[in-house]
Amino acid sequence: MNKEILLQLKGMNAGYGGLRILHDVNIQVDEGEVVAIMGPNGAGKSTVLKTFFGMTEIQSGSVKWRDKKIDPVPHEVVRMGVSYVPQGRRVFRYLTVEENLEIGAYVVKDKKEVRRRIEEVMDIFPDLKAKRKEKSVNLSGGQQQMLAIARGLMTDPHILLLDEPTLGLSPKLVKTVFAKIKEINERRNMAVVIVEHNLKSLLGIVDRAYVLDHGKVVIEDTAESLASSDALERVFLGTYNKRK
Ligand SMILES: Nc1ncnc2c1ncn2[C@@H]1O[C@H](COP(=O)(O)OP(=O)(O)O)[C@@H](O)[C@H]1O
Ligand SMILES: [Mg+2]
Repeated sequence: MNKEILLQLKGMNAGYGGLRILHDVNIQVDEGEVVAIMGPNGAGKSTVLKTFFGMTEIQSGSVKWRDKKIDPVPHEVVRMGVSYVPQGRRVFRYLTVEENLEIGAYVVKDKKEVRRRIEEVMDIFPDLKAKRKEKSVNLSGGQQQMLAIARGLMTDPHILLLDEPTLGLSPKLVKTVFAKIKEINERRNMAVVIVEHNLKSLLGIVDRAYVLDHGKVVIEDTAESLASSDALERVFLGTYNKRK
């Protein structure tokens, strides 16, 4: 059975204020798939996520949603079923865990449905359940990251875009966060795109990976094959050559 392509960048050239950051980028995410985007600092990973979300200047190329070309505008992309959790654990620090989740469901008008979704994400993240009335400023870094992800789930997305979800977390917490992401992917058949800088353990939970360097996709491979090669290391060392 062929899976449907959910979200896609085709021949994408994009950047900011006339500056080109992404060069002929082709990335696709199929329904239910977990995809990694990796690469050095400044490679353009966040720019890829922002382009899916209509937050960059598209110079040429297209964004497609379920094989239909779209002109991405953030609130419309949310309504289509895409959720974006930006870099840096951005939670509302002086609001409680529960209030943060309510804000995440801003597109949902039915109050009962909002309550139902809060209970649902609390079941996924028991740590948050225990702290539901706490102001998020009092949570640990790992808990704040869980909250940022949980908030991203409140729109019940078809696809979740996560920008460096493990930044600054201990190796043990990184494992926990990855396990949670995989669990949600399986439970909801929700596609996930995870951006990480250089974290080989990420390959344990993804199906496929793209490696970006200087705004170009230099590697597109299955997680298995990338994990067993030294290509990723060579990109970081600057000795990777597409022709090998
Ligand atoms: N808002 C912006 N305006 C101008 N240049 C930007 C902006 N955001 C990022 N850049 C530039 O785009 C390039 C890629 O950045 P980014 O996508 O954040 O890389 P990564 O996430 O891989 O570290 C960098 O050279 C960065 O300086
Ligand atoms: Mg980034």
